[in-house]
Amino acid sequence: MNAGPVKALILGYGIRGRVYGAYAKTHPHDFEIAGLADPVAEFPSDADCPTWKSWEDALAADVDADAVVIALPDRLHYKACMAALAKGYHVLLEKPIGCTWAECEAIRDEQMRTKRLVLTGYVLRYAPFYKKLREVITSGEIGELTSVHHLAAISYGKSSHAYCRGNWSVESRGTGMLVNKCTHDFDLIEWWTKGKACKKVSSFGSLFHWRPENRPEGAADRCQNCPEHVREACPFDAYKLYYERTDLRYHFPDESDEAILKMIETSPYGRCVYACGNDSVDHQTVLMEYDGGLTIILEMESYSQQRNRITHFYGTRGEIIADEVKIEIKPFIGDSTTIIPAQHGHHGGGDREIMAEFVKLVRTASPDRYPKILEAALESHRIAFLAEQSRYTGKTMDCVTEKPI
Ligand SMILES: NC(=O)c1ccc[n+]([C@@H]2O[C@H](COP(=O)([O-])OP(=O)(O)OC[C@H]3O[C@@H](n4cnc5c(N)ncnc54)[C@H](O)[C@@H]3O)[C@@H](O)[C@H]2O)c1
Repeated sequence: MNAGPVKALILGYGIRGRVYGAYAKTHPHDFEIAGLADPVAEFPSDADCPTWKSWEDALAADVDADAVVIALPDRLHYKACMAALAKGYHVLLEKPIGCTWAECEAIRDEQMRTKRLVLTGYVLRYAPFYKKLREVITSGEIGELTSVHHLAAISYGKSSHAYCRGNWSVESRGTGMLVNKCTHDFDLIEWWTKGKACKKVSSFGSLFHWRPENRPEGAADRCQNCPEHVREACPFDAYKLYYERTDLRYHFPDESDEAILKMIETSPYGRCVYACGNDSVDHQTVLMEYDGGLTIILEMESYSQQRNRITHFYGTRGEIIADEVKIEIKPFIGDSTTIIPAQHGHHGGGDREIMAEFVKLVRTASPDRYPKILEAALESHRIAFLAEQSRYTGKTMDCVTEKPI
């Protein structure tokens, strides 16, 4: 393609669509918005591009564009990605790639047929913190990895927002927590263990607490109707999470106090967490065995104060402990060191860096590289789907011979 900006349609202008769209403002020579599609979102008043109410209309229109960014709800990823590839667009596709393994495989086949790029929204591997961490792991400083303990702590605020009250509360509307949220973690693990195949996986998890039977006596269906003494004792009270605190407000287009109060009174985010009809797990553990005997534990936890990832790597010559702020390297011989990589912006800078990578790949990469890029992302989905199958069936899954259903 020519040296001008990569022109892209943004399908879905919610939180993620806005994050990716913002790159056009900061990097106008690299990225240009060629059109925006969303049925309800308010588009920026200075948007100098066509807009549509649905992704189908956007893809049906004849627009001068190179690519699409798919930031739609999970269940629309598959259809939109297939249609975008068939139109000849390169795709930046938010995770999950598909809601079933069959959808993921169909996208792989369509990518091979159309020879276009599909880059998955695994922003963490582009963040400077995780790039540095991988450099340390692969340097051999702690020898060969024997085991990894990886905790993805979601925090009770974020988890109740997304997986109890919000978009991902009901598994059948998209995917389970593991495929939606923890594919980031599976992706990091795939990256850290590059060259080693996962041989077996098993998983346990459930919806432990946000269930109707745990509803406090006297609690109402919505927080605004709840008796004050019940609300005061409830950590998940919507007024505490969205009004007294401000860190979750970025989920809403209008973050003013007035808009937040209205949102609590009228939206699903003001519902009692014990009356949301949710079935998504709130905690889950995955055990994996790799080539050569490396073992990995991935733990997803909703009931944490902190929202972060803490990983402990054990190697034959030392340990590494990483917590998304600092990387502590503790060799068995020699002094321990601590590295604090610089981080700027959403996802530790990963949101910006993935856009830079997308632009670079569209502009300069040989199409021969594209299948490999999607393949790595699919591998983390494959293991996540198998882990879910283990949770449902109680069986340990053989990742070499068994295929996710
Ligand atoms: N990579 C990451 O770190 C990360 C983080 C959060 C979310 N996500 C993923 O990004 C995707 C979007 O998540 P979000 O948090 O932005 O959700 P969101 O609800 O804020 O945005 C989705 C948008 O899609 C719009 N939409 C719905 N149907 C549409 C249609 N037919 N045509 C066009 N637009 C339509 C909605 O109106 C909404 O504005 C999800 O798949 C999610 O899993 C990825």
